[in-house]
Amino acid sequence: MLTSGYQPGKKGQDNTTFGIKKQNELDKSFFSMHNARMSYAAQFTLSSGTTRFVRSYAKINLTLDVLERRIDGYHELSTVMQTVDLYDTLCLTTTDDGSVRIICTRPELNGADNLAARAAQALRERLALSQGVVIELQKRIPMAAGLGGGSSNAAAVLLALQQEWQLPLSSTDLLTIATELGSDVPFFLSGGLALCEGRGERITPLAAHWPRNMRWLLLVKPAISVSTAAVFRSLPTSDYTDGTHSRAISAALQAKKEFHLEDLHNGLERGVLARYPEVAQARKELLLAGATFVQLSGSGPTLFAPFSELVRATQVQQYLHERGYETYLTRAIHPTVENVSFY
Ligand code: C5P
Repeated sequence: MLTSGYQPGKKGQDNTTFGIKKQNELDKSFFSMHNARMSYAAQFTLSSGTTRFVRSYAKINLTLDVLERRIDGYHELSTVMQTVDLYDTLCLTTTDDGSVRIICTRPELNGADNLAARAAQALRERLALSQGVVIELQKRIPMAAGLGGGSSNAAAVLLALQQEWQLPLSSTDLLTIATELGSDVPFFLSGGLALCEGRGERITPLAAHWPRNMRWLLLVKPAISVSTAAVFRSLPTSDYTDGTHSRAISAALQAKKEFHLEDLHNGLERGVLARYPEVAQARKELLLAGATFVQLSGSGPTLFAPFSELVRATQVQQYLHERGYETYLTRAIHPTVENVSFY
């Protein structure tokens, strides 16, 4: 993944040097683990004694249909999500002091309300466990960005601790705990490509087929954070749909049929573009730079632009980077199969 980091006051400077050496070492051992096919959790984590490293991937929404507002205040959704190879790294160390501690590269995330810490705590409470855990979290996925970073961290903790602590939890138990933590958490228990319905907890995995014209996914994050709750709260009913877009894209992907990028849809996009001029401006810049299609991921503010050719994707990334945007050039990844390439 090619990254360009936005830093206020340091326009155009790269911020990817944090822990690069350590990360390279981790990557080397991680990839050597992938020489053999392994079970899902073993592919996803690298264990050594009571310390376990976990990768936790970001997602984009290819489609997001908002069907209706439910009586519990949530919205009924139909959304097609895909994990991409932008990831956070977690290091979980089991302790015997019965506490859950989190140490994050972003100090504002060092708290018991961090979704990763809440995931560990939920397991401890549900099974009355005595062991504790220290969670070291190296953030790369932008926060409150529509990329599911926090939800992905939580799912990674659930999977890793279930394996590390040999917990007697069925996949239904895990799904229940994941749903209680957040609407996107269930998707990240499996990742890859899936249709997610209900609040987001009804997951239908889709065949691992990925269109050529989306081989490269450029993510562009305007320098603002967006509250998902605020976006849903202000959504007019005129932006509700009947699920047509998600159904059509799921069917095309399953049948390995081509579809037009214009068939993708995000029901939250119109409202976000109207409310946040920074997002509308980023969209304009992407199109100006040569992207043929741009769409909001989740509740934003991150936009994604698909490309078939790496050279074109890199040119557009450079253009946006020079204008001070945080950008990530990624590809779709299916973390449950070998970690190299599946599409
Ligand atoms: O479930 P999660 O805590 O991630 O959701 C964040 C907010 O997004 C919720 O408080 C709710 O306002 C909104 N939301 C929704 N319908 C969904 C998912 C999220 O209204 N299906």
